[in-house]
Amino acid sequence: MLHIWAALLPTILAFASAQNNGKGGATYSQVTTVSVAGLGPTPTIEDSPVPTQTTVAVAPNARSYQLNSSFEIADKPAARTFDWTISAQYGAPDGYNRSHTTINGQMPGPLVEANEGDTLAFNLLNALPNDTVSIHWHGMFQNGTAFMDSVPGVTQCPIQGGKSFTYQFKVTQYGTYWYHSHSGAQYTDGLFGPLIIHSGDDPLVRGTDFDSEQVILLNDWYHDESSTIVEGLLSVDGYKGTTAAPSPQSGLMRTRTTSAIE
Ligand SMILES: *[C@@H]1O[C@H](CO)[C@@H](O)[C@H](O)[C@H]1NC(C)=O
Ligand SMILES: *[C@@H]1O[C@H](CO)[C@@H](O)[C@H](O)[C@H]1NC(C)=O
Ligand SMILES: *[C@@H]1O[C@H](CO)[C@@H](O)[C@H](O)[C@H]1NC(C)=O
Ligand SMILES: *[C@@H]1O[C@H](CO)[C@@H](O)[C@H](O)[C@H]1NC(C)=O
Repeated sequence: MLHIWAALLPTILAFASAQNNGKGGATYSQVTTVSVAGLGPTPTIEDSPVPTQTTVAVAPNARSYQLNSSFEIADKPAARTFDWTISAQYGAPDGYNRSHTTINGQMPGPLVEANEGDTLAFNLLNALPNDTVSIHWHGMFQNGTAFMDSVPGVTQCPIQGGKSFTYQFKVTQYGTYWYHSHSGAQYTDGLFGPLIIHSGDDPLVRGTDFDSEQVILLNDWYHDESSTIVEGLLSVDGYKGTTAAPSPQSGLMRTRTTSAIE
């Protein structure tokens, strides 16, 4: 099944968006959602019988994927703790209303910034009514902490509804990474986000080589929830008559998180 879904991997790009040494007065357009035309029928708003909605308020600046210009890039290891509640929320990023799997009400999840050498702790609460959760920190070496790698049934038990689990590990590398659910194909419901690890060894220096950095997150977007798609793909008849990987209805491109409450 993982092979089928490999075709659906969202892609994260982070880049230094201006390289003008502060002289040029660059502007940054804030694209929130972009749906790609010509990929199937016009989306319609539909009701779907999914989870109880708990609306979560999030400060607007916590939604940005622009790297924090005040973030101190240092060789001094720090402990960083994040409290994340995983819940189901409705939203219509391409005009089609469907349930998303969110982190603190955000879809995709919040930008995480850390320094090489930091120890990260994520206190997860699974507030999904009917689904288990796990989060994989894609590309992290997890040297000595394999049980934080998040493969349900292999390195950990799935986190059940109403239960908590703390992922804690040391980062010993730097660069542009992402995290995502490792439960079924749940990441296609929105449970993924950017993970940026800074280092004093980074050859490009903020304020010298560039002014600011912006994550742009691209992902395939399906109107059906992953549970429906996977159930179909694993059945004799397939999903919509085929066991081939389905084409998405939209492509989303974002510089910040979105949610139903905006
Ligand atoms: C999306 O669907 C849910 C569930 O039916 C509903 O509660 C919500 O109001 C809908 N949102 C919009 C914007 O239509
Ligand atoms: C959760 O699963 C139960 C049992 O299958 C079902 O009756 C219920 O409707 C589901 N709840 C939601 C919110 O999907
Ligand atoms: C940006 O970094 C500063 C310094 O660490 C911190 O105080 C502030 O809360 C951060 N802002 C956001 C939006 O995370
Ligand atoms: C993993 O950690 C051990 C113990 O600290 C160390 O000896 C080893 O070199 C590390 N391996 C890698 C690939 O970093």
